[in-house]
Amino acid sequence: MKTEIIDAKLGIEKGATLIKNGELVVFPTETVYGLGADAFNEEAVKKIFIAKGRPQDNPLIVHISSVEQVMDIARDIPDTFYKVAEKFMPGPISVVLKKGDKVPSVVTAGGDTVAVRMPLSPIAREFIAHSRPLAAPSANKSKHISPTTAQHVYDDLNGEVALILDGGSCMVGIESTVLDLTTDTPTVLRPGAVTVEMLAEVLGEVEEKGKVIKIAKSPGMKYTHYAPKVHTVVAVSLENAIAEYDKCKSEGGKPVLVYRGIYGDKIEDRNLIDLGRTTEDYARNIYSALRDAEEKYDEIIIEELHGKGMEFSVMNRVYKSAGNKLV
Ligand code: TXA
Ligand code: MG
Repeated sequence: MKTEIIDAKLGIEKGATLIKNGELVVFPTETVYGLGADAFNEEAVKKIFIAKGRPQDNPLIVHISSVEQVMDIARDIPDTFYKVAEKFMPGPISVVLKKGDKVPSVVTAGGDTVAVRMPLSPIAREFIAHSRPLAAPSANKSKHISPTTAQHVYDDLNGEVALILDGGSCMVGIESTVLDLTTDTPTVLRPGAVTVEMLAEVLGEVEEKGKVIKIAKSPGMKYTHYAPKVHTVVAVSLENAIAEYDKCKSEGGKPVLVYRGIYGDKIEDRNLIDLGRTTEDYARNIYSALRDAEEKYDEIIIEELHGKGMEFSVMNRVYKSAGNKLV
């Protein structure tokens, strides 16, 4: 199959026709690119698992373009959903609800709950509105780093999809928060840009499973995700990062520091991929940096962020990338 990349604004109609014909189309969102199929078409959804090499037991998020569409996807919708929706939808959050009958079980990996998300990206919503509610995982090969540009998608899925809608770089850069509202206490299964603190303000009580998730209620959490192809570590301090770098270099390796530019002067002439200045810059740029680094270097040393909120969310991904290896 030949994979075409078109400017997202120009490709909406073409993409919508492909979706209605049961094909896969990649579309941009504010978090990462999604690999979409008609959520109500079982055969189409099966193609997602094949294209990505995704395990069958890992459920997909259904993307909608208006809050009302949730009625087609879920049932027994709790009041807490509408509280969350009013504040954060559209936005970078997916909410787990009881599955509606119209959704084929391949979408939810056989489970009786379904994750629903309304993206903030207007182009994503326009695409969904013109096609169908879309079952979509991140548009990377299973276990690889999530894509934040159309080129990242092409590098992973060339030949596997007919069309990639190019909407430029994703603004948030890490995947949506996953919030489970089917449990007694609302539970964050995956932290994201809608932070645990922000949710606690609206819902009162929110549980957070923490960095090390032992019991995988969110099936995806048990898989290695976001992993670069080369040795990757998180540095708890800049001193440690530089020591690790110099050790790798002295052994004949080719290391790189993935840091915010505020440390530029201390890094001197060592290889650096600059993540920007703020936590938001860090999140937006981290996946691009890791894809770039794995091609050019043989050890990746990443800056650790120590705070709460978005810093906590982004470190959830970074620790996984490094297989929890700290220096
Ligand atoms: O930002 C995002 O969420 C992106 C864009 C494309 O929207 N999508 C994304 O999808 O990251 P994916 O499939 O790569 O990650 C979805 C996560 C997985 O960890 C999956 O196990 C979990 O959400 N999930 C999906 N449905 C679930 C459900 N019913 N119950 C619990 N976890 C669920
Ligand atoms: Mg993914």
